[in-house]
Amino acid sequence: MQKSFIKGIVIAVGGFVFLNCSSVNKVKSKSDVPSLKEAFKSDFFIGTALNTAQIEEKVPGAAVLVPKQFNAVTPENIMKAEVIHPEWNRYNFELSDKLVAYAKKNKIVVNAHTLIWHSQLPQFVRRIKDADSVRMFFNEHITTIASRYDGQVYSWDVVNEALNEDGTMRRSIFLDKLGDDFVVEAFRLAQKAAPNTKLYYNDYNIEQPKKRAGAIALIKKIQAAGVRIDGVGIQGHWHINHLPLKDIEESILEFSALGIDVMFTELDLSVLPNPRDIVGADVNQRAAYEAKLNPYTAGLPDSVQTQLAKSYEDVFRLFLKHKDKISRITFWGVDDGQSWLNGFPVRGRTNYPLLFDKEFKPKPAFYSVIALKSKGK
Ligand code: G3I
Repeated sequence: MQKSFIKGIVIAVGGFVFLNCSSVNKVKSKSDVPSLKEAFKSDFFIGTALNTAQIEEKVPGAAVLVPKQFNAVTPENIMKAEVIHPEWNRYNFELSDKLVAYAKKNKIVVNAHTLIWHSQLPQFVRRIKDADSVRMFFNEHITTIASRYDGQVYSWDVVNEALNEDGTMRRSIFLDKLGDDFVVEAFRLAQKAAPNTKLYYNDYNIEQPKKRAGAIALIKKIQAAGVRIDGVGIQGHWHINHLPLKDIEESILEFSALGIDVMFTELDLSVLPNPRDIVGADVNQRAAYEAKLNPYTAGLPDSVQTQLAKSYEDVFRLFLKHKDKISRITFWGVDDGQSWLNGFPVRGRTNYPLLFDKEFKPKPAFYSVIALKSKGK
């Protein structure tokens, strides 16, 4: 399966200064820190989710880190319907235009997120009762936004999280009012509105066999309708204590066999206790705060830091094994301080799921990922 973007020709320009974890705590100048996007430039895009303040370059640490480390960005929230289309005849493109300008200035591609999602819908949509009005919103929303950014963004998460854990279609205003074919229709509208933009289906837990089967059926349905779908985003909201490497590898192979790009679009590895064994990213799942669920308020113990580094090393080793099938790996946030996992599924916790800490310093996990490239992977 041909990768859908041109691979860079990697010319080793000087060697990285590879440090083992024990020396990682020495203060280094920012120029000593290797670059993720450079290290993996012949393998796949390396991306991050950006919040409003980061897009507006109001976060100094991120303003330095993002252009150096990443060559792809996904808006964490500002292109979701409740933000970009708050009223029937009012769109708010200010922040999405800023994102496109920021990305162009920094030679970064934009994965726009997301056209159709059951969550974060504006109030006027949530109040709609009749099918005709839902269809009018659906058609206008996709066509207006996707056509505006055609050629400016690299790709769209056209539909996000349309499946239940057992692979059946998730109940939503779109399924209820537009029927089973709403996903195919969303891609059909996006294809017409944005002929120069790649179109993806994005979901969490679709590395799990049952939900993966549902996603495969959905993708085959889109393809059978003669509608374009260019890739699938496996979100990758996992936990260091259960990293489903076997399921991940099977998913890469099975999705790739459909002739589409495979991406890991929202990667983070939680290190905190999981209440009620919540797995995935269903934003409706919540749990009450208890101190025992928030054990690392004073910092992350070395043992957990090392486990996090090993987990990231293991999953990136698998990504590199299948780099011919994978077009992008996006972290769901620049630094630990930004992560949604500080507030999900329990509000008010301190999590450590990413490669950079809340002071934007690289963690041992960053060096374990970079070191894979020094081993000629
Ligand atoms: O912008 C408002 C602000 O004006 C208001 O004062 C504040 C307090 O209510 O809320 C702010 O909006 C919040 C928004 O993040 C921006 O910070 C929403 O309440 C909050 O629900 C929203 O959370 C986002 C979450 O999606 C819920 O939709 C997270 O940041 C974001 O990381 C998360 O991302 C999703 C992906 O889009 C899809 N996959 C799962 C992933 C994790 O849930």
